[in-house]
Formats: sequence, structure tokens, C-alpha cells
Amino acid sequence: MEFSSWLVVLAMALLASLLLLFSKKSDFQYHKRKSPPGPTPWPIIGNLDLIGPLPHQSLHKLSQKYGPIMQLKFGSFPVVVASSAEVAKQFLKTHDHVFASRPQTAAGKHTTYNYLNITWAPYGPYWRQGRKIYLSELFSSKRLESYEYIRVEERRVFMSRLCSMSGKPIMLKDHLSRLTLSIISRIVLGKKYFSESKDETSIVTLEEFQEILDELFLLNGVLNIGDWIPWIDFLDLQGYVKRMKALRKKLDRFHDHVFDEHKARREGEKDFVPKDMVDLLLQMADDPNLDVKLTYESVKGFTQDLIAGGTDTSATTVEWAMSELLKQPHLIKKATEELDRVIRRDRWVEERDIPQLPYINAIMKETMRKHPVAVLLAPHLALEDCNIAGYEIRKGTRIFINTWSVGRNPSIWYAPEEFCPERFLGKDIDVKGQNFELLPFGSGRRMCPGYSLGLKMISSSLANLLHGFDWKLPDNMKVEDLGMDEVYGLATPRKFPLIAVVEPRLPLNLY
Ligand code: HEM
Repeated sequence: MEFSSWLVVLAMALLASLLLLFSKKSDFQYHKRKSPPGPTPWPIIGNLDLIGPLPHQSLHKLSQKYGPIMQLKFGSFPVVVASSAEVAKQFLKTHDHVFASRPQTAAGKHTTYNYLNITWAPYGPYWRQGRKIYLSELFSSKRLESYEYIRVEERRVFMSRLCSMSGKPIMLKDHLSRLTLSIISRIVLGKKYFSESKDETSIVTLEEFQEILDELFLLNGVLNIGDWIPWIDFLDLQGYVKRMKALRKKLDRFHDHVFDEHKARREGEKDFVPKDMVDLLLQMADDPNLDVKLTYESVKGFTQDLIAGGTDTSATTVEWAMSELLKQPHLIKKATEELDRVIRRDRWVEERDIPQLPYINAIMKETMRKHPVAVLLAPHLALEDCNIAGYEIRKGTRIFINTWSVGRNPSIWYAPEEFCPERFLGKDIDVKGQNFELLPFGSGRRMCPGYSLGLKMISSSLANLLHGFDWKLPDNMKVEDLGMDEVYGLATPRKFPLIAVVEPRLPLNLY
């Protein structure tokens, strides 16, 4: 070939390479432009190096750089984080059906009977039927009202116990957890099933039961490396899976004991009437007409959801509320002025009184804004490709809604770091999933089904703690010493439990 011909071939090859390069680059830019902005991931770990021990705070900081919708990679999986009310609404309302599933995790597999509870169940007929049972059978307003006497009895025991410890420093969370655990156990299991004193015998002691639940909460909230980098899952580098398997054995033993007692009662009574939620669920497990059969393990999964979902969440919220109030005692004064005016000092606050207490309601909302229990909600999963706010979200992406961050957005909330219940007075903002700036229970198909019970327990215990006692910090502690540090998990409680001193403020015969 002549030299000039070589030149032509070379020029054509160069042109072709340039065209190829250009088309690749524009293809790359197209995808880059279409995915939400975010930091560049490393091989294998993705962006896990950017996530500290408080993931919601790490993500909050990143969102200030990348915006209210950003994409990261956790190990092998894309993760999209929503940090504004508008973006949260897109995921949980506009495109709710696309994001209504959950990713599969080791916790769901090992601690909730292979996703047979509601929290971790994938979107589909099993989950849909379970939700229907929750909403129409277990949490109907009639059913919840029928259990009011349990909440009242346990509240009385709680108030008397605190009164007997007046003048001494108490760790409030211990008492709140005992209250919520007692209420939930009686509603769900029919009785407490744990022994409260040394001479009682039961399948577990209160401490053991609390430890089981703490472990369940912890393991369901941890960032288990094997969930994100599946090919090293078998190594169980953090030892979490081993702990999950050990926990499952304890849970099984507990459930089997509870169910055996329930079945014996059912078989022994001629005109058996279901008394508690386990009775109802076991009855449904025998129902051949259900669309999807409920197995014995389903009942275990559901029971666990009910116990775990209802206890630590409410206790944590009330502990945050009292911590914020003790930092600003003039807010306690305002709350007790309202209680003295509306309730007066000769009785306790009942659930029917709550709508007449706007300041108490405002304190609850302000607590849930600044300290939402589920700071990132529970993870959602994209079931198909979807366009959100002009960005392409790929099928299989995990979605986190950072409610902690939304609650601190200065474009929505004036002085967001301040605890100021007044911001809610006269405002039509509630916590039931319609106002996307305040989503403590989530919203849409996956919204918390137990929110009305949760609200009843929080409002009644908070109102009565304020009505029944004068509060102060222990003598050796100043208001400035009361930190607001958090620990991350499925619920995000205080790092250092609140210790306070109470004195009764109602006539002593009421306690
Ligand atoms: C202060 C009280 C409570 C708070 C703050 C709370 C919060 C939440 C949140 C944020 C979710 C996830 C929503 C989402 O994925 O978008 C959730 C789900 C859930 N909650 Fe609650 N919850 C509370 C009380 C309760 C109670 C009392 C129960 C039951 C007794 C309960 C049972 C559940 C269940 C079963 C789910 C899973 C729903 C699903 O995946 O379809 N929660 N809760």
C-alpha cells in the first residue's frame, strides 16, 4: 500500500476511535446526569467509608453538599437518600407503589422467620394480607379502646412506682420501658410473661426479656457488612449473624411457651372468646379461607413485630421529650399551667383529655421533629426503574428517607436546633403521614400500622408525668451538663440515659 493510503486508513481509524470515545463519553454523561448526584464510590466498599457511627448525621452532612436527593453506593448496592419533604413525598406518595418493598437483610432472615413478619416482608400478597389483619383486626379503634383499661392500670402502677422513689435520682428510661413493655405484653400476649420480682417464676425475668428486645432492636438496626457486600457474607466479619441465630433460639423458646399456653386455654374453654392479639392470630392461622395461609411461624413473626414495634419506640420518644423540657424548665411551667387549667389537680389525665391539651400535643410534635425514633425510616426498595425529581432511580436501589435531616431543614423550620413547641401552636401539621415535613411514622403503604397505639402511649405517659410530678435534675448536675447525644439503631435513643428527680404534685391519695 502506498504511503498516502496508509495515511487515509490511519486518519479513518483515528476518526472512528474519536467517534467511539465521544459516543461513550456522552453515554456516560447521560447516565451521570440522570442519576442523583453523590460522592464517587470506591471499588468493593462503595461509599461506606463516609458513613460514621451515626449514619443519619453522616448522610445529613453529605446532603448539604449534594442536595435533597443524592445517590451513594453501600458496598455493591446503590442507595438513594431523600433529605427534603418534597423528595420524601415523591417516594412515599407519588411513586409509593414502586418503593413499597424492603431489601432482604440477614436480620429479616434470621430474626423474623425468613421475612414472615410485616416489617421485613417483601411487597406482595403475604404483606398485604398481614397489613389488612393489623389494620382491621388488631388496631381498629374499637379494639384499641377495648384495651384502654390495660393502659390505665399500667399507668397507675407506673405513677405509684415513681412516687415511691421521689426525692431520689431515677433513670427514667428503665421505668418507661417497663411501662410500655407491660402494656404491650398484656395487649398482645394477654399477660406479662415476665417475672417482676425474685419470688415470682416465669419463663423470663423482666431483665432477660428487656435484653432480648434490646438485642432484637440492635440487630435489626445494625449495618451488617454481609448485607451490603454479599460475597463476603459467609465470613460474618462483625459476628452479627452468629448473634442473630442465637437470638432466634431464645425467641423461639419464648413464643413456643406463649403459644402452648394460649392453645391450652382455647382447647380447655367451651365458649372460647379471643382475649388478646395472639389469640386472634392463632385463630386466623386455623382459618382455611384466608387468601394466603398464616403459618405458626407467621404468628411468631407478627407477635414479634407487635412487641418490638411498640415498646422501645414510645419509651425513647418520652425520654427525649423530658430531656428537652428539663433543659428549658419554663416549658414545663407552661405545660403544667395548661394541665392545671384543663384537668385540675384532683385527677389524672385520661386519653380522652388529650385533644384538649394543645401545648402537650405541641411538645410531642416538637419531640418527634427533633428526635424522630426511626431517623432513616425503615429502608425501602425500588421494585422497578423510576424517575424522581428528574433523576433515574434504578430497580434494586435501597431508599433511605432521612427524617432527622428533614426535621432540621432551615427552609422549613425556623431555628431548627431549638426545641420550641410553640412553632406547632395553631398550625395544622400532624404526624399521621400527610405532612411530609414531619414523618415520625413514615407515610404511604409502609407507614407504621401501630401509630395510633404509639401516640396513645406517648401522650398519656408524657401528660401524666408532667401533671403528676415536679421535675429537676440531680443536685450535682447542671442544665448545661445534660447532653443530647444519640446512639444509632432501629430506634435512636439518648447516648446517656436521662437521670432526674421527681416530687409528687397531686394529692398523695392519687398515687
Ligand atoms: C412512637 C411509636 C412508634 C414510632 C415512632 C414508629 C415508627 C415507625 C416507622 C418510622 C416505621 C417505618 C415506616 C416506613 O418504612 O416508611 C414503622 C413501621 C412499623 N411499625 Fe411502628 N412506630 C411506633 C409504634 C409502633 C407500634 C405501637 C407498633 C405495633 C404494636 C408498630 C409496628 C410497626 C410495624 C409492624 C411496622 C412495619 C410496617 C410495614 O413495613 O408495612 N409501631 N414504625
